[in-house]
Amino acid sequence: MLPDLHREQVRRIAEATLRTNWREGVHHGDGLRFAYTCPSPGHYPWQWYWDSCFAAVAWRHFDPSRPRRELDSLLSVQHDDGFIGHTIFWETPLTGVRRFTYNVSDPDSGMTSSIQPPALAWAWKISIGDPARVPGIIRQLEWLERNRDLDGDGLLWIVQPDESGLDASPQFDPIWRWRAHDLPGYVGLVWRNRKRNYDLRRIVADGGPVCCEILTNVLYSLSRTAVGKPSLTAALIDRCYDEQQGVFWPEARPQVSRPFPLTWTALSPLALPDLPEHIGRRLVEEHLLDPNHFWPAVAPPSVDLSDPKFSRRDAAFPGAVKRYWRGPTWINSAWLVWLGLRRLGYDDAARTLTLHLCDTIRGHGLREYYDPFTGVGMGAHDFAWSSLIMELMEPDPAAGSSYLVS
Ligand code: GLC
Repeated sequence: MLPDLHREQVRRIAEATLRTNWREGVHHGDGLRFAYTCPSPGHYPWQWYWDSCFAAVAWRHFDPSRPRRELDSLLSVQHDDGFIGHTIFWETPLTGVRRFTYNVSDPDSGMTSSIQPPALAWAWKISIGDPARVPGIIRQLEWLERNRDLDGDGLLWIVQPDESGLDASPQFDPIWRWRAHDLPGYVGLVWRNRKRNYDLRRIVADGGPVCCEILTNVLYSLSRTAVGKPSLTAALIDRCYDEQQGVFWPEARPQVSRPFPLTWTALSPLALPDLPEHIGRRLVEEHLLDPNHFWPAVAPPSVDLSDPKFSRRDAAFPGAVKRYWRGPTWINSAWLVWLGLRRLGYDDAARTLTLHLCDTIRGHGLREYYDPFTGVGMGAHDFAWSSLIMELMEPDPAAGSSYLVS
């Protein structure tokens, strides 16, 4: 049991971070009103799409009006065809070298031409109400169906690793190789995709690579279910589930012959409420709860501990570029697997995870990610979506259905 005093401390830290990171105003160019939680004041000034979805979920614990304002800001920049980008620049436009290296088709545009995992409808359902009644949400889902479903089975494909929100995750190493995120060749990849306007089919026609990524599709499926569209669980199992090893793998085009490093996204279908129980139990018992793989002292790492690509460090040497998602623990991923633990009745494990993360946050604050063995905070400070700890600490009775049945 978490002592009340500790619970209060974590609550205070989470609320203070969300309030400090809140930004609102009127955009000088077009008079649009904006209101959002920046991921980290010192580090990330803009509105990131999936960060906003996570922040909206966390805000509901403190101020029920904020989720609506946060997510309305995403909808306010939506293009007529339904597209919403990965990052919206609002009052801090792209400057300097970023004008040439960012995921924009035009350096003066107000948002990127790339996407981030489509969690909007799901976040709306959790934090506000029925997303099926919001035309912009439906339009975004239709844009994704038209533009990112390569094979007609409903699953989405991404054209760059950062479209998954998992930037330098080693699952992408065999796909993008020297062009992976934060390697020197990445800028070339951005340029290639810029030239093709981030159009999936043009990129495929010109040789790719593109990826059908698990977490992106998990969040997409949750969003579809939230508006009453058919879930993608069966399609994901069909294409990506490896019956022999009991995990999910991404798929790439052109196909990749090398084995993929095993990352936490292999377990992320645990967040799908309609995942067949026997698959969920295998994910939990054979992988998640194994201390040699995904259950170290603090919380699940972003890469299997036994995988040669696992690293506790985020940079090759002090001062080098940080490469994210190559080992440390992130709180959004802990939350998503925790949903599966709750649904399947692994209550002790769900409680242990919550206790460990609360202790970590009391000791180190809301950091971007943490050392999975010691809980030492890493990356950006005052990181907004780490306030998702509130979902674990003050569980919603609907968590067992991933909030889709109230
Ligand atoms: C990092 C993360 C990405 C996040 C962004 C802003 O790039 O990998 O998922 O959206 O920071 O927090």
